[in-house]
Amino acid sequence: MIQRPESEAKIAAMFDRVAPKYDFLNRLLSARQDQRWRKRLAAMIPFRPNGRYLDCATGTGDVLLTVAGVHPEYGELVGTDISGEMLALAKSKVAASGLKQPVQLQLMSAESLDLPDSKFDSVSISFGLRNVVQRDQALREFHRVLVPGGVLLILEFFIPKRGLMAALFQFYFHTILPFIGGIFSDREAYKYLPQSVGSFYSPDELRQALYDTGFTVEGGESYLFGACRLVRAVKR
Ligand SMILES: C[S@@+](CC[C@H](N)C(=O)[O-])C[C@H]1O[C@@H](n2cnc3c(N)ncnc32)[C@H](O)[C@@H]1O
Repeated sequence: MIQRPESEAKIAAMFDRVAPKYDFLNRLLSARQDQRWRKRLAAMIPFRPNGRYLDCATGTGDVLLTVAGVHPEYGELVGTDISGEMLALAKSKVAASGLKQPVQLQLMSAESLDLPDSKFDSVSISFGLRNVVQRDQALREFHRVLVPGGVLLILEFFIPKRGLMAALFQFYFHTILPFIGGIFSDREAYKYLPQSVGSFYSPDELRQALYDTGFTVEGGESYLFGACRLVRAVKR
């Protein structure tokens, strides 16, 4: 079994390697469902004229661009990531999108956001939190940069534990995904995905970690029989 890379530098290097084929493989491996989930996330971002929005672990910027499209009323959009190659792709996609709102894309870890306290009305992280080495620290940072009452949206995979769906997902995550990922991109990175999902919080653990950090979970959605979840948490 592949070990979870223990350092942020190794995780960044891995995402640098998969960046060129990242969007293509996302669409292929999720049968384009990822775009539907990103739209659902954007729909849960609160309406805030001149609002400020942060997308952490933004990758190639898909969620940030979706939110920008759904929320033209927001006045400032910030995307951060630790992979320079992913951010470079995000920058070209933002430039090609013709967005009117100011967008900043910055190389920055979710564990130590170089951003002011209580600045953002909403923060999101999609398929990113499981990659963060110190997840509790990242949750504390999201809490710090949100305004009181601000909304945190987390989109993430969770491996179903029992039953036929669990067996199907294990097979898909451990066999199909590394096989297809290996054909088009970096096989080791696509072997790491199931490992990272397996070592992530359970839905209950995430709810507790959010509560302990000062958030209250107020809603969410579940897709693929619970294998993918969108969690909406509000800063108390
Ligand atoms: C699976 S991708 C998800 C990208 C994007 N959010 C999406 O939905 O397609 C995970 C991203 O998390 C980033 N990442 C990993 N650890 C991070 C950290 N500590 N802080 C910020 N970004 C991180 C990676 O560089 C990568 O771009």
